[in-house]
Order: sequence, then C-alpha cells, then structure tokens
Amino acid sequence: MRPIAVTGALGQLGSELCRQIGADAVGLDLPHFNLTARRSVLDRLGEIRPRAVINTAAYTGVDQAQREPDRCRAINAGGVAHLADACRRIDAVLVQISTDYVFGGDAARRSPYRETDPPAPQGVYAATKLEGERSAAACRRHFVVRTCGLYGHPGPRSPGNFVETMLRLARERDHLRVVDDQLCTPSYVVHVAAAVRFLLSTDRYGTYHVVNTGETTWYRFAEAIFQIAGIRIALEPVTTAQYGLPAPRPAYSVLDTAKYHSLPGSLPMPPWRDALRKYLDARQDLGPANE
Ligand SMILES: NC(=O)c1ccc[n+]([C@@H]2O[C@H](COP(=O)([O-])OP(=O)(O)OC[C@H]3O[C@@H](n4cnc5c(N)ncnc54)[C@H](OP(=O)(O)O)[C@@H]3O)[C@@H](O)[C@H]2O)c1
Repeated sequence: MRPIAVTGALGQLGSELCRQIGADAVGLDLPHFNLTARRSVLDRLGEIRPRAVINTAAYTGVDQAQREPDRCRAINAGGVAHLADACRRIDAVLVQISTDYVFGGDAARRSPYRETDPPAPQGVYAATKLEGERSAAACRRHFVVRTCGLYGHPGPRSPGNFVETMLRLARERDHLRVVDDQLCTPSYVVHVAAAVRFLLSTDRYGTYHVVNTGETTWYRFAEAIFQIAGIRIALEPVTTAQYGLPAPRPAYSVLDTAKYHSLPGSLPMPPWRDALRKYLDARQDLGPANE
C-alpha cells in the first residue's frame, strides 16, 4: 500500500500523526524538505508516491508574521500550492491543516462558526492560512481541517505551546497576567490527529472543523492547567488590548464540529478540560526529562 506523507513531521501535530500512523508514515520536515522549494517538493513526493499528504507544516509565528509577510505567505500559501500540484500529479489526497484564525472579524459573535460561514482573517498569519486553504483546493481530492490552540508533546525544535509556557512561567514568577477576552477551544493533538486519520479513511472531501468540545478563554484555560497540575500561583485576567501583542487575535473563534460528527464512525472529541487532563497526565508519565 502507498504510504502517507506527513509534512511538518517534527512539529506538535506532525509528530503525533507520525506516531499514530506508524510504519505507514513518511515524515518530512526542514531542512531536508522545504515546502517553498517547488522542484524538490515535486521530486520528493514523486519518489515517495504517497496515497495522501497531510500538511501540518506552516509558518506559525503569529506575531512574527506581521514583520515577515512575504516569508509567511511563501510557506503558508505558496508551499501549499506546491503540495497541491504534487498531489494532483501523483493522484494523492491532500489534507491541509488550517486554523480558527480564518474567522474573528466579528467581535460580538457568540455562536460557533460553521464551515459555511464566510471567513474574515485578521493579520498576516490568518490571511495566509486562508490563502493556503484556497491553494489546497487545486487538488480535487482534498480536506481542509481547521483546528485551534494546539498543544502536544513538544519536539526537539518545537517552539512549545501555551500549556508548556504557563508551566515554565509558573516556575519563574509568582504572578501571571493572562488574556481573558478571547473565546476559543484549545485542542489536544492526540485527538485532532485521530480525527484527521478518520477523515482520511473516508472519501467525504471538503472543509471540516475539528476541535475539542466546549469553549474557554486563555485565562480560564490557565486556571485549569494550574488546578490540575496542583500549582498555586496568582493569576490576573487582562484584556487583549492590555496585553498588547503585535498581531490581532479573534475575540471569538469557537468552531462548530457538527459536520465532522455527522460522518458515521467519527470519533468523539472530548471536552477541553478532559483533554488537558490527559495531556498533563501523559506529560507527567514522561518523567523529569520533560520538565
Ligand atoms: N499551534 C496552534 O496553536 C495551531 C492552531 C490552529 C492551527 N494550527 C495549524 O496546525 C498546523 C500544525 O501546527 P503545530 O503547532 O503542530 O506547528 P509546529 O509545531 O510549529 O510545527 C510546524 C512544523 O513545520 C515546519 N516547517 C516550517 N516551515 C517549513 C517549510 N518551509 N517547509 C517544511 N517544513 C516547515 C516547522 O519547522 P521549524 O520548527 O524548523 O520552523 C515545524 O517542524 C499548522 O498548519 C498550524 O497553522 C496550529
């Protein structure tokens, strides 16, 4: 059977996909595989001839992207166009991982976004990820999977994630300010990867929202991290404006997963708090090397 190629294989979601897919996976990442190098993308995928390519590789520095729009666009949109071209040539399915940040223009919104809602990205990262979704559509058999606030076991080069950042900061400080006016659903890569694999087992191509269940703010998520981990620390809720990051963030980007769950055999997406507990338990089992 032809294998499954996973790009961004050293990242959070890519490494989890490779782990779950096992011997069938061919992991691809920098420096040997660069999405922006069109010829080598076509050649490498032409050699591997995977039955599917799952693209988790991206320029994910949301704030940094404001200063490097061309580089961000070359990876998040141009790189996906190269993959779509390669997949068309070798008749492979393309799975493009995208983001809740394609929404967010409507600060007053309080109902979860469906796949049919018009996107309104703010900021360079968000705009280029939407362009990437459109690039993926050049491959007829494609999925776009939008997810949110990923956390998973950080790889050797991983920039980390919100949970790891909170745990690190709690060791360095006795008081933390955390944003309390962005509503979304942070999601565990173990559950997102399983859902991606399920989608790939079907021929129900198209766009899907895949996140854990429920909604929270980063402040309430941080409260849950420290409560589950048994860490006492003073937490102060602040607004996005008070926090003052360079890139805009959606005030509300909760995703409706009904379309994914309407597929017979789709896997449940556990509530975000249960998912967080699973991550923290698994992290503890990995031992002190992970501290
Ligand atoms: N993290 C989140 O909160 C979040 C939320 C919603 C959606 N997403 C989307 O989910 C996907 C996976 O996110 P993640 O957190 O797993 O990302 P990640 O941990 O940052 O991993 C991305 C991987 O892609 C690699 N990469 C970057 N540029 C590349 C290029 N030009 N060619 C080949 N590989 C390249 C990175 O290498 P380097 O580390 O060397 O750059 C890294 O190994 C991304 O598409 C992201 O946009 C993420």
